[in-house]
Amino acid sequence: MCGIVGYIGYREAYPIVIKGLKRLEYRGYDSAGVMLYDGADIKLCKTKGKVSDLEEKASKEMTTNGTIGIGHTRWATHGVPNDVNSHPHVSNSGDLVIIHNGIIENYAPLKQELIARGYVFQSDTDTEVLVNLIEEIQKKEKLKLGKAVQTALNYVVGAYAIAVFDKKCPDELVAARLGSPLAIGVGEGEFFIASDASPFIEYTSNAVYLEDGEMANIRLHKPMKVRKIKDDSEVDPYIQELQMNLEQIEKGGYDHFMLKEIYEQPSVIKDTYRGRLHANEGIIQMAGVEDNLEKFLNADRIIIVACGTSWHAGLVAEYIFEEFARIPVEVEYASEFRYRNPIINSKDVVIAISQSGETADTMAAIKLAKEHGAFVFGVCNVVGSSISRESHAGAYTHAGPEIGVASTKAFTTQITVLTMIALRLAKAKGTLSNSDFHMYLQELEIIPEKVREALETNERAKEIAATFKDAPNCLYLGRGYNFPVALEGALKLKEISYIHAEGYPAAEMKHGPIALIDDQMPVVVIAPKQGHYDKIVSNIQEIKSRSGRIIAVVTKGDTQVRELADYVIEIPETSDALSPLITTIPLQLLSYHIAVMRGCNVDQPRNLAKSVTVE
Ligand code: M6R
Repeated sequence: MCGIVGYIGYREAYPIVIKGLKRLEYRGYDSAGVMLYDGADIKLCKTKGKVSDLEEKASKEMTTNGTIGIGHTRWATHGVPNDVNSHPHVSNSGDLVIIHNGIIENYAPLKQELIARGYVFQSDTDTEVLVNLIEEIQKKEKLKLGKAVQTALNYVVGAYAIAVFDKKCPDELVAARLGSPLAIGVGEGEFFIASDASPFIEYTSNAVYLEDGEMANIRLHKPMKVRKIKDDSEVDPYIQELQMNLEQIEKGGYDHFMLKEIYEQPSVIKDTYRGRLHANEGIIQMAGVEDNLEKFLNADRIIIVACGTSWHAGLVAEYIFEEFARIPVEVEYASEFRYRNPIINSKDVVIAISQSGETADTMAAIKLAKEHGAFVFGVCNVVGSSISRESHAGAYTHAGPEIGVASTKAFTTQITVLTMIALRLAKAKGTLSNSDFHMYLQELEIIPEKVREALETNERAKEIAATFKDAPNCLYLGRGYNFPVALEGALKLKEISYIHAEGYPAAEMKHGPIALIDDQMPVVVIAPKQGHYDKIVSNIQEIKSRSGRIIAVVTKGDTQVRELADYVIEIPETSDALSPLITTIPLQLLSYHIAVMRGCNVDQPRNLAKSVTVE
């Protein structure tokens, strides 16, 4: 989704804005632009393509001095990706400049009205409508920038995070948000605006996260003013100290963020359970669960809402909750749930899983659940994100910033949190024997070591990747706890290498997909020793008899599958329920290497955005 960056202060704005846009590249985009103000003129440069293309164009077309600047990476919604549709957009007078992340849903009638009043539009975007609406209001009602922006925002329907500059009051930026994230960095004599804190982390660790429906007037050498867009009431801005550091958002010697994040899993899983899991004492303690234990224990059922990889973590959780805590679970795509008039009641617990905490469909799903009286528990990674704030309670995954568009450490840390919740409920309900409860606690505590061991399959994954990198299709099969891992493995492959891949429960093969098997079809089978081992061996035999090419993920020391498979990847042994935390590792590595070998842009796959803030 679009990324926005703004700066007002005493430094040169251009390098800050450009570096900031590069930090936001992970969000996914197809064009970029920048505006600078040098005390006399507005300078603008926009282009289809990458931030590096923008830099090249700017170096030829404009001087880059100026201490006020705004920049944007655009993920096209209204209008194709091209130079003209790129942001920033300028009003007809040439005075107002805007950057916008989101969608103005009622832009069409507003545009017609503005055209009727003589406005001319260059682009196909909804954003150009908004900047001209602000201008029209400013002119007609003789308002200052802040008031004109506020009035305009009360006319529009949709979602936005915006920053607006007005040449007529050049010591000011106005920012506002509704449904799209916006952070304001507060430094000494300078301010930063960004979609998240990563563009300004090296300049200040003080940030204000605007709430939905708030706007900020940011003026040089004056305290920032925050108010509610609707009723104009003033809000005391809460300045929080950021936990993030620069190292976390850089590649740290890895070729790609995705690989760095894959390798971070042993340590971030530890961070996830640190202070919550006390294996020796037999205790699991999570404030959000403890404070609401009765709600969980009295729940008729748990409904999990999520999208993408987070939905896959939800599917793993379904198996775990039902097995450990004997609570019925339904796992829903948030995008389907929100539109299908679901039956929700006040005895339902709805768990929303989201790495970014900004996914529009998941957000809408929890709002719907709340309207029906359900208790909403958020499992998010980004601290202070919209979903974490909208939930009644929750647990953070503490995975640190995930920059690669393909989720890796988010998945394993989500499963870790959900497993701990299930174990805590099982203890309260007595649905697991004491010895099993303690066994799982001990197992979970040593999972980071096993993940580390599983990462040693990297070279093997690379060899296999070299063999299969040109395959047009790939099947992933798993059973039980590892069926969602098969789905996740297939998603990883297709999203970063553009190879068509499907995940199936292995037993479903004979109900259709088996027709696809021939000697060209690679089939990745997740076949650890625990669980339904014999059954999966039979499934492998079925593939073998049809000449399929089998890549099997097996427990160290396995002999039976080794005889049947063309390639095996050995992983350390763990209990069936915790095995997704291990089996997923070689699949992440396999996808990564295939994508690299195919020359794909691993961290920013085509058409994808890191957080999907539009439906
Ligand atoms: O931030 P969220 O966890 O809510 O994001 C959900 C999906 O958009 C996300 O998992 C997506 O499927 C990833 N690209 C998967 O790698």
